[in-house]
Amino acid sequence: MKPTKKPNQKNNRRQQGGRSGARMNAKAAKPAAQKPAKPVKAKKPKSAPISSEHTQIIQWYPGHMTKTKRRIEKDLKLVDAVAEIIDARIPVSSRNPDIARLTAGKPRVVLLNKCDMADRRATDRWVTVLSSENVRAIPVDCKSGRGVDKFVPVLTELLQPRIEAYKAKGMVNPSLRVMIVGIPNVGKSTFINRVAKRTKAVSADRPGVTRGNQWFTVGKGFEMLDTPGVLWPRFDDQTVGEHLAFTGAIKSDVMDTELLAIRLIDLLKTLDVPEFSERYQLSAEELEMPSFELLGVIAKHRGMLIAGGEPDTERVAYTLLDEFRAAKLGRITLEMP
Ligand code: G4P
Repeated sequence: MKPTKKPNQKNNRRQQGGRSGARMNAKAAKPAAQKPAKPVKAKKPKSAPISSEHTQIIQWYPGHMTKTKRRIEKDLKLVDAVAEIIDARIPVSSRNPDIARLTAGKPRVVLLNKCDMADRRATDRWVTVLSSENVRAIPVDCKSGRGVDKFVPVLTELLQPRIEAYKAKGMVNPSLRVMIVGIPNVGKSTFINRVAKRTKAVSADRPGVTRGNQWFTVGKGFEMLDTPGVLWPRFDDQTVGEHLAFTGAIKSDVMDTELLAIRLIDLLKTLDVPEFSERYQLSAEELEMPSFELLGVIAKHRGMLIAGGEPDTERVAYTLLDEFRAAKLGRITLEMP
């Protein structure tokens, strides 16, 4: 990557971690686990240099979204509670904006998943911020299983009024139903595999239950729909798209990887992540450089050069994103309460 023109540095600083700015459309991106029906094609202006002043519009329109949403709305009528899985590193961007309306006041457990890769203190703050009378937040690491054992006790406590109400109606040992919802790649299947006892509760013939739905027992007295509700993140917010791409929730292989890496550098500088400078051996002076230059510096430090000794910024961009996603830069929360 050879910028043809040096970007305005004042403007560049203003852009770091910010939402506004000149927009440079890149190709459409899609959620990693979903097939987009109508990707929006957008081209990068031919003459524009890559810098952190530019942002790429990440858009996707899964064609089956409306149908799935309707199905979720229908299934939600059958459950007593909702377990919403979000990514602890990006608790805002990994939430579906319609969730409050869709769940319509149902008791909800918010699982801050992948907390093994998020900053501990930030996760604690999010737990406080997200919890309310009808909502409990729990940090979990579904990969190792840490925190998952809290799910049933928290659910039991949250649903106590409902359990009492069922008992008052004469129901002995009422079984309560929970639905898992979350955006693609947030860890829904991993969570279900952890908590669901593989003894299927035969309930497809219950009144109102969608034919073919299977329920799993989860602890004593709970059943969970085996198919998680796949919801979508926000479509219209550039920052959301970038944060999802940084964390690997949406594929970045059809996006401009260098630009994405530059935006990640912007954010890491703003968040003042010490592991960033340590890992790539960046001096205080180098950290002051515009992010597109810093990408070149990191390439040089890593010995990633192309013919003529120029930094291989594309290769280093992939490396940076991969290392961030693998939490090699430490436990980082990109969004603070
Ligand atoms: P989904 O059903 O919501 O689409 O997500 P899924 O469970 O398939 O998880 C997506 C990726 O996130 C998987 O990685 C999974 O291992 C990983 N993951 C889920 N929960 C956690 C967690 O708490 N911590 C960490 N670090 N990772 C988690 P993958 O690379 O796509 O698959 P795999 O190679 O791990 O099997």
